Amino acid sequence: MEETKKVMLSGIKPTGDLTLGSYLGAIKNWAERAEQFDCYYFMADLHALTTRNNPADLRRRTLEQLAQYVACGLDPEKNTLFIQSHVPAHAELGWVLNCYTMFGELSRMTQFKDKSRKNADNVNGGLFTYPSLMAADILLYQPDYVPVGDDQKQHVELTRDIAQRFNNLYSDTFKIPEPYIPKIGARVMDLQDPLSKMSKSDDVGTGRVCLMDKPEDIARKFKRAVTDSETGERCVRYAPEEKPGVANLMQIYAACTGRSFDAIEDEFAGHGYGDFKTAVGEAVIETLRPIREEASRIMKDKGYLETLCKNGAEKASYIANKTLRKVYKKVGLVPAVR
Ligand code: TYM
Repeated sequence: MEETKKVMLSGIKPTGDLTLGSYLGAIKNWAERAEQFDCYYFMADLHALTTRNNPADLRRRTLEQLAQYVACGLDPEKNTLFIQSHVPAHAELGWVLNCYTMFGELSRMTQFKDKSRKNADNVNGGLFTYPSLMAADILLYQPDYVPVGDDQKQHVELTRDIAQRFNNLYSDTFKIPEPYIPKIGARVMDLQDPLSKMSKSDDVGTGRVCLMDKPEDIARKFKRAVTDSETGERCVRYAPEEKPGVANLMQIYAACTGRSFDAIEDEFAGHGYGDFKTAVGEAVIETLRPIREEASRIMKDKGYLETLCKNGAEKASYIANKTLRKVYKKVGLVPAVR
């Protein structure tokens, strides 16, 4: 008899073009797991509405993200890939969980504080209750693990608290998921400001590298990457406190080449930062080249993209609706007659 696989689920907001951070911190790790786990990955387009987007850009990015998922190695036959808004159960369970999430908990979320500072003119209700929708995204599929970068760990922890609270009130309903943080690539930092994460939503600049960037642009961005102050020792050594820029480049190089920090230090002993930055740029170019080419090809195949969306939403809805019906029943909603 076939053993049931453990379940994994994760999502990315299509609020900006996917970056090297999204790839090394998230998708690369997902692609390696399809044999071992039953995997669900989605474009979190409902979450994207918490900040203002140009509607045409949002539509393009959502489909482009789907194409990039496949180009990054997520086989749609082996993984369930779908667009969040195509599965209405997300919004429906999101509402229910809003009623089981405390104001104080939501107020403590670092991302909420951060985003409210950055979007001071648009601190909307959705931004505040974002974590209960994220909890719904997760809990609908009863996953064992939620692979995310460091910055989303707090939201997954809150999801666990919400699930536990609900289970205590109404008996076991949700599986309690674990965050799954990669050791390398968990936090890829901005090349110009190595104390901030490389973000897909912030202004375009030379600090972030996008999956669809041209090789010459990638090379230029790495050449200009900040290393450390001119006065310090100019050698490649892993010291995140003292040399955050160098540490970030070492993380990126390690993630792209599979080399250890010790091996990287040996490789560049006696070299200046220039050689090191060029090598990191080249490693990134070669890592991203096949992804860019394949994603561009898929984007041109509208029929294939539509089939992907349809099949993914069907598979996801089947599981999500089962959980939603259970929840509605437990909280006392009258079942709809269909
Ligand atoms: P988002 O869209 O900001 O980021 C998607 C994933 O990429 C990781 N990530 C990074 N990892 C390393 N270095 C970086 N510079 C970097 N930038 C982004 C993030 O940690 C994340 O794992 N709320 C989520 C989307 C979401 C979701 C979910 C995730 C909605 N529902 C349910 C998991 C489960 C978000 O905004 O991620």
